[in-house]
Amino acid sequence: MEAACGGINDMNTQDVIAMFNEYVIGNYGRLPRVITRGQGNRLRDLDGNEILDMFPGWAVSGIGHCHPKVVEAIRKQAGELLHMDNTFYNIPQGQLAKLLSERAFGGKCFFCNSGAEANEAALKLARRHTAKEKYKFITAERGFHGRTFAAVTATAQPKYHDGFLPMLPGFVYVPYNDIDAMHEAFTEEVAAVLIEPIQGEGGIHEATPEYMQTIRDLCDEHGALMILDEVQTGLGRTGRWFGYQHYEVTPDIITLAKALGGGAAIGAMMARPNIAASLVPGTHASTFGGNPLACAAGIAVIEAIEEGGLLEHAVTMGDYTRNKLEALKEKHPVIDHIRGKGLMLGVQLTMPGAAIVSRCLGKGLRVNCTQDSVLRFMPSMVVTTDEIDQAISILDEVLGEGETL
Ligand SMILES: Cc1ncc(COP(=O)(O)O)c(C=O)c1O
Repeated sequence: MEAACGGINDMNTQDVIAMFNEYVIGNYGRLPRVITRGQGNRLRDLDGNEILDMFPGWAVSGIGHCHPKVVEAIRKQAGELLHMDNTFYNIPQGQLAKLLSERAFGGKCFFCNSGAEANEAALKLARRHTAKEKYKFITAERGFHGRTFAAVTATAQPKYHDGFLPMLPGFVYVPYNDIDAMHEAFTEEVAAVLIEPIQGEGGIHEATPEYMQTIRDLCDEHGALMILDEVQTGLGRTGRWFGYQHYEVTPDIITLAKALGGGAAIGAMMARPNIAASLVPGTHASTFGGNPLACAAGIAVIEAIEEGGLLEHAVTMGDYTRNKLEALKEKHPVIDHIRGKGLMLGVQLTMPGAAIVSRCLGKGLRVNCTQDSVLRFMPSMVVTTDEIDQAISILDEVLGEGETL
């Protein structure tokens, strides 16, 4: 039987790309593959090629594609209650909030559908909770916080502002990890500081312990809030549930998305209870936020991480991958150095990485390149040594092509 949109089962890759060209807005630079299946760390495309995925879903598929526990939870929940608005209570939303809270500073959750929305919620909460004269936000250069207007304004990278000026007022940008600049930027008008514990899109740069402590101290001194964007570091890939848990500081608010739903769209903002109390009815909302389907997926993700010992596995596999990458560096001078924590690794190249990414894909390996010359290795937390070996061997082969790159 022909599908409603016309023979999709007979489509080939070119047909699908042509359909996109005609009907889908071209705001993404897409690779010319049509992905039809994902399982664990493997993708399958429409032409039957298998791809080893070292950057699954831009860090969304943190426990691999279609994790059986997540698929099962979604199936079960879909048969019971797909969506329920926040006029009522639903059980999965409460349960997911409890699981998150127990793993992070006893916070209270607001649920939404993406990382940008989680950051929007955090910024709004900071404005509402702090004194009236406080309207400024300090964010860090090279950071990334999403594409909605406040989130993209918080994203201190001019390329993302191009064509959208003027941005929202009140944002102050400082160099990441620069303690003096943070001191200088702090005034009584600052409502919050928003940074990533490890900058992801910015090229895998970790905050130093001194920097985190300085932010905590300045926020406390000036009655401002410390917000950590854990959209990429969140939920285990660094070897702890949250990136801040590698430091001695506790933030006031964290934001989550990506890996939280294991593939289902969900975002969350978690705040200390006394701060969360400022979001009273009518102050903020999301129609889909906290829907039972996404929350059931989130619960399954947390259970799968715990049952599979995946926090420990992320550390072991992170060390393994890093050692392999360090060995590659000895062989290929184009690798300058390796950065990162656990399964959030960046390979700093001495040249642009786009050609490497596309040649790797040609040989069945997906990696990502950010900031022009940083290869991002962010495999899922269920990755195996065999899969890492295979990825490294493909990268080795591609880097060996040297001058033609
Ligand atoms: C650290 C960080 N924050 C926020 C976002 C935005 O998330 P979303 O695309 O779900 O809005 C991203 C996306 O890459 C991110 O890496």
